[in-house]
Amino acid sequence: MNRGRIVAGALAPHPPHLVYAENPPQNEPRAECGWEELRWAYERLRLSLATKPFDVILVHTPHWRTSRGHHVLASPHFKGLSVDPVFPHLFRYTYDLRVDVELAHAIVEETRAAGLEAVPMCNPDFRIDYGTLVSCHMTRPQWDIPIVAISSNTAHDDLSVEVGDARMKALGDATRRAVEATGRKALLLASCSLSHRHFTQEPALPEDMTHEHIYNYNQYLWDMRMLSLFRQGRTRQIVDEAPDFVEQAVSETRAGSLTWMLAAAGFPDEPCTVHGYGSVIGTGNAVVEVPPARVHSGDACDGKL
Ligand SMILES: [Fe+2]
Repeated sequence: MNRGRIVAGALAPHPPHLVYAENPPQNEPRAECGWEELRWAYERLRLSLATKPFDVILVHTPHWRTSRGHHVLASPHFKGLSVDPVFPHLFRYTYDLRVDVELAHAIVEETRAAGLEAVPMCNPDFRIDYGTLVSCHMTRPQWDIPIVAISSNTAHDDLSVEVGDARMKALGDATRRAVEATGRKALLLASCSLSHRHFTQEPALPEDMTHEHIYNYNQYLWDMRMLSLFRQGRTRQIVDEAPDFVEQAVSETRAGSLTWMLAAAGFPDEPCTVHGYGSVIGTGNAVVEVPPARVHSGDACDGKL
């Protein structure tokens, strides 16, 4: 078997508004338009990925939270209806997806070998979270490639961002080892926004973009700083600054998805491609494509598990 590899990573935010505005047949509510900056950013990501064939999508999601270790989707087929608990008027999505079970079990084993807890999720009736569904739909709406979804852990909240991120580096390394051992060509998705303070009321017409803008200037400055680091290829610095970013911009990267993705990609130092930036109910979101590191500098865990 050929050694597998990470084909690319992506920051792939999951506001359900994006699927709502796309009007795919899987989603029941209908929209007229909305959030074009981000939807067209995903379109540019899809065009770029068309030149980088991959055979599995790995996604780390803030909206599947587990307090003991990480759970990994590991049943071959999931089918059902996902309703966003906050935006049920925007997202009632019928899904039907396949899972790469062999890779899922390999990730579980490598994660355990790294000293973290991991559990395969084998209940075929388990309901898939909207973070997984929106990021995967916007990246690959055909749903013709199997996925593996990985839950986020509460260590960032229960302990600290530093401890949580150290674990995400170990999880990212374990993920990459599993990909290499199983011969897969994998796309990584970090399913999260950047800044995440948001409005608590929405306009009568949700897609009325005359009401949409970033929540405050502080958040905007933090988002631009993060995107500047992406564009310079300073991916380790992004994670180094995560505790301040999380505290000052209430960033959704707190759940560890971004750190996991950058670690699995080997903390590349080449420029990343910002396909677009936009706000959704005031939160800051960017679609960013991350090239895999050409040379891995060794496993990224710094011993703070
Ligand atoms: Fe979210």
